[in-house]
Amino acid sequence: MRHLIDPLDFTKEETEQLLKTAEDIRLNPEKYNNKCAHKKIATLFYEPSTRTRLSFESAMINLGGSVIGFSSADSSSAAKGESIADTIRVISIFADIAAIRHPKEGAPMRASMFSTIPVINAGDGGHQHPTQTLADLATIRRRKGSLENLKIGFCGDLKFGRTVHSLIKNISRWSGISFVFISPKELRVPSYIINEMPNNTPYTETTDLEEALPEIDILYMTRVQRERFFNEEDYVRLKDSYILTEKKMELAKKDMAVLHPLPRVNEIALGVDKDKRAAYFEQVENGLYVRMALILKLLNID
Ligand code: NCD
Repeated sequence: MRHLIDPLDFTKEETEQLLKTAEDIRLNPEKYNNKCAHKKIATLFYEPSTRTRLSFESAMINLGGSVIGFSSADSSSAAKGESIADTIRVISIFADIAAIRHPKEGAPMRASMFSTIPVINAGDGGHQHPTQTLADLATIRRRKGSLENLKIGFCGDLKFGRTVHSLIKNISRWSGISFVFISPKELRVPSYIINEMPNNTPYTETTDLEEALPEIDILYMTRVQRERFFNEEDYVRLKDSYILTEKKMELAKKDMAVLHPLPRVNEIALGVDKDKRAAYFEQVENGLYVRMALILKLLNID
């Protein structure tokens, strides 16, 4: 039995295979209608979510299966003090696979140690978010035709942004990748993430988005993660550090792609949405296909 907890849990080859299946699902959805008949996914969300939870649920429904779960900690027995270990033992009796989002780093991993069904990390605190990474990889591949030879700019909250951490870790396995980290000094990529990058991927750090824009192939924008801040003043001071506008987009390559895991707060002006380079809603669509492919893989269904 396999879980998906860390972005490196699947090899590069397995990841490529998963993206291939996701692409086939996109092109031939009817082939997959019934693959998970009588299967259930449990979505255990101890933290707010719109896309990720509904995407997992839609993925299972599209595969002919069904869904149980909860969407906030206070509607589960966590509110009564139940441990994640006990909760997952119970859920293992009801469901075939579980997706867990939790504010504590490592909680989905802990759950996987007690689970008798595959566990998917749907975001753990400011740590990792490996299924968002699959959506990001699918989007980059769809836009650029490959995952190689790309300069990727990450902009915003690189300290707490778990989607950033997971994408850095995963995509640095492809050749010719380099990174530009654009953030305020207080929100730089943590050194443990840099140290975990396979292949010593080259990177530079800057505070200046305009200066970085002309040279990058993918711009990955993020929101400042208010819920992870220790005080509100710091959040207020940093929240609008970067706002991507139509004017700034003029500095970028004609075929750059703009990604954002969403939710967007202020960091991309609405006017950018109609630019062909905006790929963030396509990312949501790809998220659905990769989660369908992931459920099939973890349940060993061809
Ligand atoms: C992200 C998350 O939850 O980490 N959202 C998502 O799952 N697409 C990004 C965010 O909340 O900023």
